[in-house]
Amino acid sequence: MRELTLSIIKPDATRRNLTGAINSYFEKAGLSIVAQKRLMLSRSQAETFYAVHKERPFFQELCKSISSGPVVVQVLSGNNAVALNRKIMGATNPENADKNTIRKDFGVSIAENSAHGSDSLENAEKEIRFFFSEMEIIP
Ligand code: CMP
Repeated sequence: MRELTLSIIKPDATRRNLTGAINSYFEKAGLSIVAQKRLMLSRSQAETFYAVHKERPFFQELCKSISSGPVVVQVLSGNNAVALNRKIMGATNPENADKNTIRKDFGVSIAENSAHGSDSLENAEKEIRFFFSEMEIIP
C-alpha cells in the first residue's frame, strides 16, 4: 500500500555534507522524495516535535542535538514507506544497525544517528503535518 512517511536528516549528517548520499539510499530502495526543505529547529520546536520522549532520560540530549544545526525534513512516498524507511535507516543505535543502512554507514552515536523516520502510519501523519502544508507535498 502506498504510504507517506516523515524523514529527518539530522544535524550530524548535514554538517558532514551527507544529504545527497543519504537521499540516494531512499531513492535506490524505491522511495520518492515528494517534499523536502532545509531548516533549523529551535530548542522549543525540538521539544514539541519529540514530546513523546519527554520523560526519557535522553530527552535533553536529543533536543540539544537535533537543534544544533540544520536539518533536512522530507516526505517520502512509496509502498509500505513507513516500514521500508525504518529498514533503510537501520536500528536506532548505529552499533546495532545492519550493514548498508544509513545509521550503520553514517551514524556517530545513538543520539547522532543521522536520520529520523516515523515509527507508525499514525505518527507519520502527525509528523508530516508538523513540518509541511498540503500544498508543499507533490505526489
Ligand atoms: P529518532 O528516530 O530521532 O527518535 C528518537 C531518538 O531518540 C532516536 O532517534 C535517537 O536518536 C534518540 N535516542 C534513543 N535512545 C537514546 C539514548 N539512550 N540516548 C540518547 N539518544 C537516544
